[in-house]
Amino acid sequence: MKFLVSFFAFLVLASSCAFADGGRAGSKVSLDWSNACITVSDKDIEGIMPEVEAARRLMEEGKCQGSDYLGWIDLPETIPDSLVDDIESVAETIRSEGDVLVVIGIGGSYLGARAAISALKGQFANELALRDGNDVAVYFSGCDMSSDSLASLLRLIKGRRVFVNVISKSGTTTEPAIALRILYDAVKAEVGEENARKRFIATTDGKKGALRELAVKEGWKTFVVPDDVGGRFSVLTPVGLLPMAAAGIDVREMLEGAKAARIEAKSDDPRMSAACMYAAVRNALHRKGKKIEILADFDPNLHYFGEWWKQLYGESEGKENKGIYPDSLDYSTDLHSMGQYVQQGERILMETFLDVENSGSRIEVPDWPGDLDGLEYLEGKTLHHVCRTALRGTAEAHREGGVPNMEFRIPEMNEYYLGYMFYTFEYACGVSGCMLGVNPFNQPGVEAYKSNMFRLLGKPARKK
Ligand code: PA5
Repeated sequence: MKFLVSFFAFLVLASSCAFADGGRAGSKVSLDWSNACITVSDKDIEGIMPEVEAARRLMEEGKCQGSDYLGWIDLPETIPDSLVDDIESVAETIRSEGDVLVVIGIGGSYLGARAAISALKGQFANELALRDGNDVAVYFSGCDMSSDSLASLLRLIKGRRVFVNVISKSGTTTEPAIALRILYDAVKAEVGEENARKRFIATTDGKKGALRELAVKEGWKTFVVPDDVGGRFSVLTPVGLLPMAAAGIDVREMLEGAKAARIEAKSDDPRMSAACMYAAVRNALHRKGKKIEILADFDPNLHYFGEWWKQLYGESEGKENKGIYPDSLDYSTDLHSMGQYVQQGERILMETFLDVENSGSRIEVPDWPGDLDGLEYLEGKTLHHVCRTALRGTAEAHREGGVPNMEFRIPEMNEYYLGYMFYTFEYACGVSGCMLGVNPFNQPGVEAYKSNMFRLLGKPARKK
């Protein structure tokens, strides 16, 4: 269902508290940094805004470092309708002819889809899909080299109607390439070589690379990772959109949300953009000695959103001995493991909360005869209310403990707002990287482990 999109944004600088709005009329994503004021003042934020604006301009004008990889910037507005049609039609085939989709990919080639599916369909989506049979279960492989893990996946999918979407921009990454060989053999053994051809979809470079060659040779359906979009910025390309659509996610709605964030981000005044304000506050905090940023959610369904965010910022900023170290925690779970450190450990932390204002499910605390657990005062209250109250209490406690924090308030977790958040974090990451003076769009450090591994495994020089 389409709604009217409102692009009004406003800034309130009273008590260091701002709201940046990219949502629909009446319900807005907001960014509140009032709990950062223990470390940075309004003046600090105002002082850093010219740098945010300069970084934003460099990016918009294609003059920043790594400007060959800025294709993601316009994607929400420029993605062709025919491509989205194609994605939806392949997803429909997977949904009508398959029980399981295995997505093979690593890093930016799987984290966006995994984050979206978990956030929107829930952490138990696969169990429910296999139990009820009205959805496709989506599993991820090729992001590790654990034989135990792959062996259990093979056991799980045996006898089911399996589709495979192998995603690798370079087409040569070892982990997904190994998983592909194994899954190809497994599917072939199950349905035969001819039928297996119809079960594989490759998302890769448009022209070159081993995976492109293989896909052409085997006659697999293919999608293209645009040349100018790096893996961790590719969630709104077929890399992220096909697995999401196969899981039953409305990708057009997601693109609408991303478009709202895009329009907001390119406004002339960076104060009108949640992405720019977020980049401003985290960099201001970093300059005051906060070296680690925790992205904290209060919902296990958002665990992989935190993983996606971590990769985005870690791989984009962590170079040349610079960068804010990104970590993500799932509260309340992690309040009982890492909460102690956050509250009283070394004071190098800042924190960004994801506060989802409304829940799609209503569960109330029931009454219990005798009130032995002392929870009578919560009877009739919704679990979501208790959870959000825990967030309030945590943000306050961490501020008092010396951890400056900010909050993204998201009206609800749906396609639109998730699309908005994906784009907002991508844009903020580009701006932040430029402010730090690094190329946010490369990852030269990732090669080091690979060359050691290849040497130790005895990889021969590539034949001509
Ligand atoms: O952000 C990136 O570019 C990386 O995380 C890549 O996505 C990851 O290394 C996988 O690369 P490829 O898609 O080439 O297999």
